Amino acid sequence: DFSEDNHRPLYGKHILITAGPTHEPIDPVRYIANRSSGKQGYAIAAAAADAGAKVTLVSGPVNLPTPPGVTRVDVESAREMAAAVDAALPADAAIMVAAVADWRAAEAADKKIKKDGSGNVPPLALAENPDILATLAKSPKRPPLLIGFAAETNDVIAHAQAKLARKGCDWIIANDVAADPMGGDANRVHLVTASGVDSWDRLPKDAVARQIIAKVADALR
Ligand code: CTP
Ligand code: CA
Repeated sequence: DFSEDNHRPLYGKHILITAGPTHEPIDPVRYIANRSSGKQGYAIAAAAADAGAKVTLVSGPVNLPTPPGVTRVDVESAREMAAAVDAALPADAAIMVAAVADWRAAEAADKKIKKDGSGNVPPLALAENPDILATLAKSPKRPPLLIGFAAETNDVIAHAQAKLARKGCDWIIANDVAADPMGGDANRVHLVTASGVDSWDRLPKDAVARQIIAKVADALR
């Protein structure tokens, strides 16, 4: 019916969203992480649910309430996030907002690493994490609309355009984390697609989220 269509434009659609940082264990008490708050991803999940979608939110460790109507799957590491994303498919659209740690400790210790008392520091060998977005782009389960995020400190649009090509996604939503440090409440984003760049005003994260979800609904219509 007409009013359902206007008010719940994502009714019947499954939207998969990743959000937050990942934590990569070094030993049982230490981890590698980043400054992601999860706020932008959670705002997008809330906006998608408001638009009538069935929403799966695969979340790294954050300190945020689950938005109403959203199914949340908590994970810690990038590899756990990759498995949870795979388990949540199929989806009509996936929006990968998470700041996935690029590297993990090559081998996490199963006991707390102790100082040796002589000032020697333990070596920390790193291994590259799986690229969840790039893997999904090549998968037979690739959602019809696949969106990545890019937090950059410089050359934002050029980096985003390179990422769009390299990752095989449909859109990259880029923001300048030098201008708006991670963890804040507003973003100025650039929507980068094969057909060009659309730079939005600086807006609160919930307004950015509503605008993204309106574009997603248009694309899925
Ligand atoms: N991403 C992912 N898995 C990873 C790394 C990134 O799914 N292991 C996703 C992010 O969720 C985001 C997009 O890829 O949607 C871009 O992340 P970004 O960190 O900007 O890209 P990288 O390829 O890791 O490049 P950079 O060296 O700039 O960090
Ligand atoms: Ca990265």
